[in-house]
Amino acid sequence: MTDPSSYAMFVETEVPEGELIISRTDLEGTITYANETFAAISGYRPEELVGRSHNILRHPDMPKSVFRQMWKTIRAGAPWEGYVKNMRKDRGYYWVYATVSGVYREGELVEYKSLRAFVPEAKRIAMQERYDAMRREEGDRIRLVAYVPAEVYRRLAGLAEAEGIGLDRIIARQLGRFPAE
Ligand SMILES: Cc1cc2nc3c(=O)[nH]c(=O)nc-3n(C[C@H](O)[C@H](O)[C@H](O)COP(=O)(O)O)c2cc1C
Repeated sequence: MTDPSSYAMFVETEVPEGELIISRTDLEGTITYANETFAAISGYRPEELVGRSHNILRHPDMPKSVFRQMWKTIRAGAPWEGYVKNMRKDRGYYWVYATVSGVYREGELVEYKSLRAFVPEAKRIAMQERYDAMRREEGDRIRLVAYVPAEVYRRLAGLAEAEGIGLDRIIARQLGRFPAE
């Protein structure tokens, strides 16, 4: 299991201006094509991405409602555009402005495609705040960064290791509550 106290999660990768991240998926969202830029920015090799669900990139900061709305829009045959924070293989992150739309062959919807581009820094900060507020309003998970005594951490991490579950679930359990998932 990845060390949950690792700093890697807070390291941002910038999408170079003018470069496009391109992917295609089948109708269920399984990746069928990934370009080199997609692989380089996400930290995966193209062959590691093809065949995997596109949610392999899902960042816990993304509100559920954003993807619900995305799927509703593209299933209805319209293009969807929006800001997405993605998680890299090394657990770092990158922001993109994504356009997702259907690929049609002889008038029939056969795949989806996505083009993703650079987001200016001020916009990334604004979207982070907006998505944090949305998760809070939706009763979704809250990001918690805390410094605890090493002994407390060792005990929590030991329990998480023994149970094979995340620290977040261990903390919830200590309080007698189980998170929704
Ligand atoms: C063409 C296409 C591109 C997508 N790109 C992303 C993406 O970059 N990041 C992401 O988290 N989800 C992306 N998704 C949505 C995922 O399929 C998935 O719905 C999302 O990650 C939420 O995960 P969940 O549906 O398992 O809750 C994409 C879907 C499609 C059809």
